[in-house]
Amino acid sequence: MDLIRDPAAMRRWASEARSRGESIAFVPTMGYLHDGHLSLMRIGRARADRLVTSVFVNPLQFGEGEDLEVYPRDEEGDLAKCESEGCDAVFFPQPDTMYPPGFQTRLVTGALTTVLCGASRPGHFDGVVTVVLKLFNLVQPHVAVFGSKDYQQLQVITRMVRDLAVPVEIVGAPIIREEGGLALSSRNAYLGPDERSQALALNQSLALAQELFAAGERDPGVILAAVRAHIQAQPLGEIDYVQLVDAEELTPLYGPLVRPAVLVLAVRFGRTRLIDNRVLSES
Ligand code: PAJ
Repeated sequence: MDLIRDPAAMRRWASEARSRGESIAFVPTMGYLHDGHLSLMRIGRARADRLVTSVFVNPLQFGEGEDLEVYPRDEEGDLAKCESEGCDAVFFPQPDTMYPPGFQTRLVTGALTTVLCGASRPGHFDGVVTVVLKLFNLVQPHVAVFGSKDYQQLQVITRMVRDLAVPVEIVGAPIIREEGGLALSSRNAYLGPDERSQALALNQSLALAQELFAAGERDPGVILAAVRAHIQAQPLGEIDYVQLVDAEELTPLYGPLVRPAVLVLAVRFGRTRLIDNRVLSES
């Protein structure tokens, strides 16, 4: 496995692979890798000749007062995991090589980011799509894999690729959960024991919504009230948002549910903000 720190070297590596006729799959991450990230690598591995993972805690997507400085890092552990998943290269740049002095150009997202996490974290998704496009230009992947745990992010990146005709296929991957149902996240490392056990209510509340929907409930108000009540029964949980939105446009759904709907939520436990979601299905 090649460890590449220099953006220009990454681009050369990718160009050489492409000139040999090899296809490239890419998994961008911010590191502190867990089984959710590894599941994306397995999907990538199966879809191309070469697999590249990047580890970069991207300053552009963190707002004032967010956790950029304390975001968990484990370079040695991450490299070992990439190696054992069969990555051909790990791209591990630093902020000063990705954003050298004079860097000033950014992508601007649209309506998809005025809601949900975009509303709570202004500028966040502009920072995400800017780094993702730059990473695509360096790694030159044929296919890139993103988790649906970050549902809005997956939609925003899919739209960026479509809007700007970026020659990459975006693949969405299922949410990986730990026993008990908590969605794996690098930020789970911040949770205290009580917060962690109360956070199980998130997946339970999504399951509750799915049960109601499968039983024929189509009134968003009824489903949302049940979800909110379940979460509010946890004294340490503070709801940021709980919404039922159109699965592609992310616009809130009011009337009886007829279009594909996803229940999305963000809840704070102490200083940790957790997100989760579930696409509601007939069965
Ligand atoms: P990060 O939070 O490290 O996540 C990297 C990828 O792993 C994302 O596509 C995310 O959706 C996926 N992922 C995280 N937890 C998951 C889980 N439990 N199950 C399945 N997939 C999961 O998302 C980012 O980094 C950054 O915003 C990035 C796209 C790398 C741009 O900086």
